[in-house]
Amino acid sequence: MLAIDFGARSIKAVQLSRTGDGYRLDNFGMVLTPPGSVLHGEIKDVDAVTQALAKMLRKKGIHERNVNISITGQKVIVREITTPIMNEKELMDGLQWEAPKYVPYDLKESLLDAKKIEELEEKEGNKMMKVLLVAAPKSLVNQQIEVLKNVKIQPRVVDIVSNAQIRAFENYLTPVSPNEEDGNKMDVILSMGASTTEITLIEGDRLKFTRTILKGGNDITRLIEKKLEVPFNEAEILKRRIGLSLPVEPAKKEESEMPPEEKTSREPEEDAIPNEEEITKLVKNGVHDIFNEIRKSLNYYKTQYQKVTYQRIILSGGMAAMSNIGQVLKQQFGITVVMANPLKGITVNQNDVNLENLDKYKRCLSTAIGLAKRER
Ligand SMILES: Nc1ncnc2c1ncn2[C@@H]1O[C@H](COP(=O)(O)OP(=O)(O)OP(=O)(O)O)[C@@H](O)[C@H]1O
Ligand SMILES: [Mg+2]
Repeated sequence: MLAIDFGARSIKAVQLSRTGDGYRLDNFGMVLTPPGSVLHGEIKDVDAVTQALAKMLRKKGIHERNVNISITGQKVIVREITTPIMNEKELMDGLQWEAPKYVPYDLKESLLDAKKIEELEEKEGNKMMKVLLVAAPKSLVNQQIEVLKNVKIQPRVVDIVSNAQIRAFENYLTPVSPNEEDGNKMDVILSMGASTTEITLIEGDRLKFTRTILKGGNDITRLIEKKLEVPFNEAEILKRRIGLSLPVEPAKKEESEMPPEEKTSREPEEDAIPNEEEITKLVKNGVHDIFNEIRKSLNYYKTQYQKVTYQRIILSGGMAAMSNIGQVLKQQFGITVVMANPLKGITVNQNDVNLENLDKYKRCLSTAIGLAKRER
């Protein structure tokens, strides 16, 4: 299966195949996104993206002609609803009556999905079922389809980023506790990209809530670009070199929770960085701005469902490579942070894949990997 993920920083392609009960990564490719041509998961310049993608696919020798793609953004709706018991076909037919209660845009112009989660009995004895409703406007994916048409590829599955994230990190999820008194233990998948930060709340392997924050690493780079009046690319390098400073008193416990090879730390650099203090402050402010939005979402969900405890934050996306971000996140939120590797449980075709690059960029690949895991 081939998946393509159109990011604001880079466009990624991942090719997986099934091996018994696991997966093998056969190929992957990445290309820098032409500046300004993708923002918040939407393609703004079809021609520029087409050219970049075509070049990357050619270079990587990716010839598969069916692809899985994703949608994201604040218009994506995820809701658990309760309906009378019905089969899959009846459910899909019934959606045209049920969905308008939750979906504020034209259903004819939407992608709709509904999945039975479980059956339950209401107080009056009525048998009902819990259904997960997912909706998004088709317009979010129109430009992606146009780009794919230009490179002669057919979209196979369109899924929401959160579902891809859950599939990418299935090995990291906390099993549901059978003990009701424990309350609802949930995991948080946090994917921090260049223009978006995706929060996915999961119980067991069930998607419960998702929110897209329209902020990411590019916004931090832009702070540096503006303040120091340097080109964007230079600001990007400065941001990566400086990273985040460790909290004053790092929590001892958390250090051991981070496997040593996953720990990010600043490379020793020969030359001093001009304006180091100022950049340090800008990076810190930029990160905290995003953290504040994350906090709002976690608090919002908790006030709706009081018995929720967040077990751990499964961190991914390019921003996860920022030095010390895991430690700072853990200190700020008081939740265990796992630097997650979306390649966990996946073997790699070592003949065709550059392992060094794969290791370097694996954090950016979680959406594409999760998408490629989906077979239908
Ligand atoms: N070592 C690093 N230190 C700090 N930031 C980093 C580092 N490596 C990558 N990043 C940041 O990660 C971001 C890119 O991540 P990613 O590839 O996940 O984004 P994207 O998928 O292109 O964007 P989006 O999903 O938001 O459209 C960039 O903002 C980049 O600056
Ligand atoms: Mg992304």
